[in-house]
Amino acid sequence: MSKPKVFVTRILPTKGLDLISIFTDAEIWKEELPPPYDILLQKVRGIMGLVCLLSDRIDAELMDQAGGQLRVISQMAVGVDNIDISAATERGIPVGNTPGVLTETTADFAFALLMTAGRRIVEGERFVKAGKWKTWGPTLLMGHDIHGAILGIIGFGRIGQAVARRAQSFGMRILFNDDRVSKEVGEELGAEKVVLEDLLSESDFVSLHVPLTEETKHLIGARELKMMKDSAVLINTSRGPVVDSYALYGALTGGEICGAALDVTDPEPISEKDPLLSLSNCLIVPHIASSSVVTRSKMAIMAAENLKAGLSGERIPYCANPEVYKDT
Ligand code: GLV
Repeated sequence: MSKPKVFVTRILPTKGLDLISIFTDAEIWKEELPPPYDILLQKVRGIMGLVCLLSDRIDAELMDQAGGQLRVISQMAVGVDNIDISAATERGIPVGNTPGVLTETTADFAFALLMTAGRRIVEGERFVKAGKWKTWGPTLLMGHDIHGAILGIIGFGRIGQAVARRAQSFGMRILFNDDRVSKEVGEELGAEKVVLEDLLSESDFVSLHVPLTEETKHLIGARELKMMKDSAVLINTSRGPVVDSYALYGALTGGEICGAALDVTDPEPISEKDPLLSLSNCLIVPHIASSSVVTRSKMAIMAAENLKAGLSGERIPYCANPEVYKDT
């Protein structure tokens, strides 16, 4: 019997790709950059399964181009804001994602960004490599203490809570804002539930952990940045558009906040001409929070497992649109 045809939009970690090649006839896009949308439209025609990444736009048109035989969309990421989930549900297509396995790795990274920006490590490294280090300086590159500081976590799901656990061991006071999470859940992690305005005005560090939705787009804009302490640092490992980057530039240059550390930007990749790149108090890395060898392999394996289940008509184990199964 011939194996089901699938398209994989990039070379994934080997363990995932090896699995996929056992049970499918997979075409893999081997370029460094994602397939352009018009090419993707051609590649999906007639496939039964699609394995995609957060850099691919997966909309209704693409699902229709693929055809009615498309059984599953399996994304190697936890966030699925690049996929039109309701279009998939309307067409009866389950969408897989990779929650859980990247929680601790992403929280490690958010905390690393917090510490790096707070203690000005990248600025220090640039200073040394530029040959500017002439002596021990009594006021050289003074940063902000992590221990004893107030951390505000916006979005208190799996990753936000994992960041709170790290903050607890640093003796930080932890505030959180998330309508979906009770104050009791926070209390177990030593975190206090507060309204957004209080979190912004009291925190020394503000870390974002919300999914990107209509409601969270530009959640942090000019008004919110003005509410923050002028000594505060903003950390974003969620999605770029959660922060209004134009307003962020204004806040960083106008001294409304002290620094920012961004794993995600709007757009991605950030344009080489983006003024944020010129700021020494804005640390930017290329969306790598979940990128540890072990975690990216686990994510690829989960994507393969979702694909396998979807192709065989079974309920996929990690489903971003469980409502697709409501009639079964
Ligand atoms: C990474 O940002 C992910 O959503 O997995």
